Amino acid sequence: MNRSYITDTESFVKNHLTGESTGHDWWHAQRIRATALSIQAVEGGDKDVIELAALLHDVGDRKILNTIEDDPTVAQNFLVSIGVNQATIDAVMYIISNMSYSKSIDSPDIEKPLELQIVQDADRLDAVGAIGVARAFAYGGSKGRPLYDPTVKAQEFTSTLAYKTSLGTTLHHFDEKLFRLKGTFNTKHAEEIASERDLFMHEFYDRFLKEWDGQA
Ligand code: ADP
Ligand code: NI
Repeated sequence: MNRSYITDTESFVKNHLTGESTGHDWWHAQRIRATALSIQAVEGGDKDVIELAALLHDVGDRKILNTIEDDPTVAQNFLVSIGVNQATIDAVMYIISNMSYSKSIDSPDIEKPLELQIVQDADRLDAVGAIGVARAFAYGGSKGRPLYDPTVKAQEFTSTLAYKTSLGTTLHHFDEKLFRLKGTFNTKHAEEIASERDLFMHEFYDRFLKEWDGQA
């Protein structure tokens, strides 16, 4: 595929996400692209589809639009406007529409082409570890959520809607999602990196609660 599609996409995503403050900014897209391409180098898969999906995966995301549902037309219309072929658009849109954690609660058995597996792993790796901690608190702050509240209990979500509309605290998000990501990775490479990042997050979490109680 012509590299100008990629440079056009970079500019579009930068325009959309620069300065975004929920942890889904341009640099998030950039990290996902780099991580996804490094997984692709080992696992294979269509490079163009992976790169376009990684760059575009959050431009129509509900968390950025502040809506309940994602808007897939943002990425779709852009890809049509620059003349990307229909098969590539379909493959990219399938990934973007089906890779999210929230979606996997209602649809755990969705078909996952290799390209989706790779972009999903890259996105989930950015939700764990030191960057994962930073992003969670950035997200919480941007949505007016407290850091923590000991009178609130972590929830077990059994539906996508319940997950999306919950008003829990950011520390609870670790129990409700971030610690659950370990074991959901599709590729061995990502699973190995995630396992170390998960240990770090547990260390952070335990220390947070000790400090909360004045024990550390
Ligand atoms: P997905 O987009 O895969 O459905 P999320 O909606 O959980 O996943 O959002 C992705 C990232 O946004 C998370 O990894 C986290 O950094 C942040 N995030 C989402 N919901 C929360 C929350 N309730 N508290 C803190 N961070 C959150
Ligand atoms: Ni993302």
